[in-house]
Amino acid sequence: MAFRKGFLWGGATAANQCEGGFSEGGRGLANVDVSPVGSDRMAVISGKKKMFDFDDEHFYPSKDAIDMYHRYKEDIRLFAEMGFTVYRMSIAWSRIFPHGDEKEPNEAGLQFYEDVFRECRKYGIEPLVTITHFDCPMHLVREYGAWRNRRLISFYENLCNAIFRRYKGLVKYWLTFNEINVILEAPFMGAGLCFEEGENEKQIKYQAAHHELVASALATKIAHEVDPENKVGCMLAAGNTYPHTCQPNDVWAAMCADRRSYFFIDVQSHGEYPPYALKQLEAEGIMPVMEDGDLELLKKYTVDFVSFSYYNSRCASADPKVNETIEGNIFASLKNPYLKASEWGWPIDPMGLRITLNALYDRYRKPLFVVENGLGAVDELVEGENGEMTVIDDYRIEYMRDHIKAMRDAVTEDGVDLLGYTMWGPIDLVSAGTGEMKKRYGFIYVDRDNDGNGTLARYRKKSFWWYKKVIESNGEIL
Ligand code: BG6
Repeated sequence: MAFRKGFLWGGATAANQCEGGFSEGGRGLANVDVSPVGSDRMAVISGKKKMFDFDDEHFYPSKDAIDMYHRYKEDIRLFAEMGFTVYRMSIAWSRIFPHGDEKEPNEAGLQFYEDVFRECRKYGIEPLVTITHFDCPMHLVREYGAWRNRRLISFYENLCNAIFRRYKGLVKYWLTFNEINVILEAPFMGAGLCFEEGENEKQIKYQAAHHELVASALATKIAHEVDPENKVGCMLAAGNTYPHTCQPNDVWAAMCADRRSYFFIDVQSHGEYPPYALKQLEAEGIMPVMEDGDLELLKKYTVDFVSFSYYNSRCASADPKVNETIEGNIFASLKNPYLKASEWGWPIDPMGLRITLNALYDRYRKPLFVVENGLGAVDELVEGENGEMTVIDDYRIEYMRDHIKAMRDAVTEDGVDLLGYTMWGPIDLVSAGTGEMKKRYGFIYVDRDNDGNGTLARYRKKSFWWYKKVIESNGEIL
């Protein structure tokens, strides 16, 4: 038994990690543009080091990225060749509103995405659009302090109005904020937040989160008003936390770690602040300032489906002596001795995907969508049997096969309602965490290195042909 008919298969990208063309078509500067590759990146994306413009010392990979701005037709054709039925991508806010606070949108930006969506539709590919994938116009960062300021809600509302109206009939699936919980770990990347010495960072993060949650509810409201066919989802950086042992305090530590993330989806899906969050925010004296009507909006406009990224599970312990940590998507966590790791140290845990799918479905009972999953690895371009350049990426095939199997079990054996699967980075793109090109996820190799050298030519990897078969067989042949 495999996936249901009409299951959506495809890949996911984000504007700033693939488009480039950072100043073309009237596009304004965004937080994601000024995040450099190299040792300063973490300080910048976590809001510890302010970088509000380019300097001569750093290389900024998102400026040109993989130049999809000019090559989207070639890239979408390759996606179609693999048989994609869905393509998850994001809109760069500063292409539509270059400063973020204009009254009228930028026609060149609107037209660009219209062309992209039409290109997808030409091949029967359903666009799944993230409204903000880590980006915020720099003008909003400088002049308003980004999402810490309530006025961002109305700027985001303008964005939603502009895109929902313009793309009515072209786009049906929307995600409001990519990995909304990332605001806690990488607040500049997630929400354009930087901090002054002595500020209560946690309070600011939760205030900004409240603004995003209200904005997300408004987006759902507007999307449904503009077109009742629209389906709006939230998006979580997921991966369940395991207790390090069955010692009850470890189990509690794992539960608390998961609640840090679930908080956001609890609000977006259940429509209210969960009791555990209210108690904690109150106890710490950091309850967000809310306006009349906020709670009603949250309650009334909950999401239609729950989407998430899954790269790895996590592990927690109450014992301070257990402190060997390991990297992972967004959050570092305790090392799980039962799991192998990727070249970037991220744990590899296909069963964790089945566990996460079940946990989310038990909790929210709404259709789920796996909108990111994949393996970042170093690839070597070699000459293939037919003389074309390729990558023999059996390691990627193995990773994806195991994860898709686990997902299939969740659907066919556990009864999870799953809309689709968009693996991360079907074409190599700039890493969000490190800014590298060397960390590749794609089925399509892009000739570009960490310093921006390369022809940008595209080559099909071995996994390209493998994924094509997976889609053709609707997940039967793995
Ligand atoms: C997710 C993001 O956190 O993970 C993507 O939504 C990101 O933007 C992906 O690229 C993989 O992370 P990284 O750091 O390997 O690019």
